[in-house]
Amino acid sequence: MDKIVQVERHEGYVILTLTRPQALNALNRDLLAELEEALNWVEQQSDVRALILTGAGEKAFVAGADIKELREVATASQAERLAKRGQRLFTRLEELPIPVIMAVNGFALGGGCELAMSGDVILASEQAKFGQPEVNLGVIPGYGGTQRLARRIGNGRAKLLCFTGEIITAEQALQIGLVEKVVPHTDLLDEAKKLAHMLAQKAPLALNYIKQAVNQGTESDLHSGLLLEASYFGLSFDSNDRMEGMDAFIEKRKPQFRGE
Ligand code: CAA
Repeated sequence: MDKIVQVERHEGYVILTLTRPQALNALNRDLLAELEEALNWVEQQSDVRALILTGAGEKAFVAGADIKELREVATASQAERLAKRGQRLFTRLEELPIPVIMAVNGFALGGGCELAMSGDVILASEQAKFGQPEVNLGVIPGYGGTQRLARRIGNGRAKLLCFTGEIITAEQALQIGLVEKVVPHTDLLDEAKKLAHMLAQKAPLALNYIKQAVNQGTESDLHSGLLLEASYFGLSFDSNDRMEGMDAFIEKRKPQFRGE
């Protein structure tokens, strides 16, 4: 059977393509299981230094959790377990030690918007659309939407989007800080690849420490965040790559980072 999560290896990075176009790449059980498997594999590849995640087809990144599966959930505790499973997976993605680029090629609704927000950088095609329309199904976001959206765009705007279920354009998403960059639809994957290739040349440990310092530090007060930064700064000095980076600067050559 064809894989739902297609894995494409490039030099220094990997592209994961969610491939259920007949259901606008909606997140069903099988897709989530394959995504987890793919992350297990990615974590074991020391030469994979960045990850791109995108959706198959012209129309959707991910149109949400699979509503047909949600319809069959029988009890509140089953629903809670389902939410926690998705949350765990997205948190894992968020905590991967490499930069994760979300290449949003179309609808990113509900679980799709939540998935995008668990990446480090959201690149959106001009055709992308974002929203948390769960309220229209009589439920609330369950894969981190109320939390990551509020942290990205502020409480007021997050509540407004979740209350109304409004679907916004890529340009509107850019204006409110939900996405980092909007590019022409046909350039999306090339832009994502260019960024992944560029990041794959950087010092991997430094990238990881930057990511963890920002993620963990912004969840704490400034004083604790600064302590954390100092600690990661210290760790980065323990690496061979920092000698390579500083030597290369002094010798006026390009550094060759090895992630050690
Ligand atoms: N789950 C399951 N199937 C879905 C789906 C979803 N989230 N979204 C789309 N599909 C299916 C449709 O049922 C349809 O299948 P059939 O051809 O078998 O009927 C196919 O994908 C194409 O979809 P449409 O015909 O609806 O396409 P459209 O262009 O007319 O509309 C759309 C596109 C506006 C994205 C619309 O499909 C839509 O509103 N989808 C649902 C969006 C949504 O509510 N997402 C939130 C889900 S709940 C959630 O995510 C909870 C959470 O936080 C974890």
